Amino acid sequence: MRYLTVALTKGRLAKQTMNLMEQIGISCEEMRDPNTRKLIFVNETYGLKFFLAKGPDVPTYVEYGAADLGVVGEDTIMEEGRKIYEVLDLGFGKCRMCVAGPEEAARLLNGQEQIRVATKYPKIARDYFNDTKNQTVEIIKLNGSIELAPIVGLAEVIVDIVETGSTLRENGLKVLEEVCPLSARVVVNPVSMRMENERITKLLSDMNAALHT
Ligand code: PRP
Repeated sequence: MRYLTVALTKGRLAKQTMNLMEQIGISCEEMRDPNTRKLIFVNETYGLKFFLAKGPDVPTYVEYGAADLGVVGEDTIMEEGRKIYEVLDLGFGKCRMCVAGPEEAARLLNGQEQIRVATKYPKIARDYFNDTKNQTVEIIKLNGSIELAPIVGLAEVIVDIVETGSTLRENGLKVLEEVCPLSARVVVNPVSMRMENERITKLLSDMNAALHT
């Protein structure tokens, strides 16, 4: 039997996904070892192979068929715009994509001002300002600690994910607008969906059932 390969987002999403897998009887002992640096794990019984990748790379592996399935945040799916099917909302990894900044910056979001927006998500930020708000802005791509940008004067506002809100709070920033709610999703390669339909459908329905117990 050919292995079904699943690309997981390294970190908390991978852990939560494997907890869900365990609920449906699929376990990977090796992955539980906190000191392991291994990136690929196999479950022989179910013919499954799991690997750990950086979030933004998960849709890439799935589009090219290097993974049949992937688990990744909806923010990353939106940003990457890959040719993949989004098939299941896992309900965890819940957060919100927001425009944030100092309270005074709220008045700059009226559609008229030429402002700078710092973000790890240039596509999401551009789509939101251009299409939803009809406001011309300059997007500045950063790779992390986005909250710094308005504090040090790189940008007026940021577009970023907010989970508990504590990063914003501890840096004197506020949510100014909500772009959309987000959660973790299962994505599938379109060819795999056809060729391995039975196995994939069974796995997804078992996962879905475990989510609702
Ligand atoms: C994310 C995000 C925010 C923070 C939000 O950053 O970019 O900074 O989490 O979480 P909170 O609302 O619970 O505080 P991440 O930890 O992924 O690191 P990064 O700064 O490298 O993007």
